Amino acid sequence: MTQDEMKFTVAQTALKYVIKNTIIGVGTGSTANFFIDALSTIKNNIKGAVASSKETAQRLENHGIKVFDLNKIEAISTYIDGADESDNDLNLIKGGGGALTREKIVAAVAHQFICIADESKLVSIMGSFPLPIEVIPMAVNYVKNQIIQKIGGIPEVRKDFITDNGNFILDIKDLKITNPKAMETKLNSIIGVVTNGLFANRGANVLLLGTPNGVKVITT
Ligand code: A5P
Repeated sequence: MTQDEMKFTVAQTALKYVIKNTIIGVGTGSTANFFIDALSTIKNNIKGAVASSKETAQRLENHGIKVFDLNKIEAISTYIDGADESDNDLNLIKGGGGALTREKIVAAVAHQFICIADESKLVSIMGSFPLPIEVIPMAVNYVKNQIIQKIGGIPEVRKDFITDNGNFILDIKDLKITNPKAMETKLNSIIGVVTNGLFANRGANVLLLGTPNGVKVITT
């Protein structure tokens, strides 16, 4: 089974977690795109969706799925999104596509977070995937130096990339994340950081992991 076939299968499985007549949250990235395509087959069962990026909003609308402004709705039942890495406790690294801030906001509002990924994303210790940090542009050098002094790893500005919120991304390479919750909190305390790609204080509730033998369900 190819990686895309595994992504397709987890996206189909995620449909079981969509609650009828509610508004759901939809993530960003190639796995989330498979989910949006799957969602279009049951679009009449939901009120609509909140998108975690402009790209996702466009794809949802292209499929005729209503996109809601988060400030105009009461609740999000379920958030479905991919990840760049997950550990066995369902702490995640996200933001490979640069949508981490809106993803984190939608995840915070949602009652449950279903993460969909192929098996290559499950790791015992996170950090092989460079950790994305969204930074206010004028603070980028300051934040970079603070990370070197207080966190470790090698922060690099993502080239030719501006987020949907008009900010820069620093990707921190060479980290070994042994305490994801503490690192998430510490990174958030650096002035100029908008958000970081660790989803640990609000991790996933369920991980649907695509494997060649089918979908493995991991819960917290
Ligand atoms: C987008 O900013 C990310 O958080 C994605 O959820 C993550 O990069 C996973 O993307 P893929 O499904 O394309 O691997």
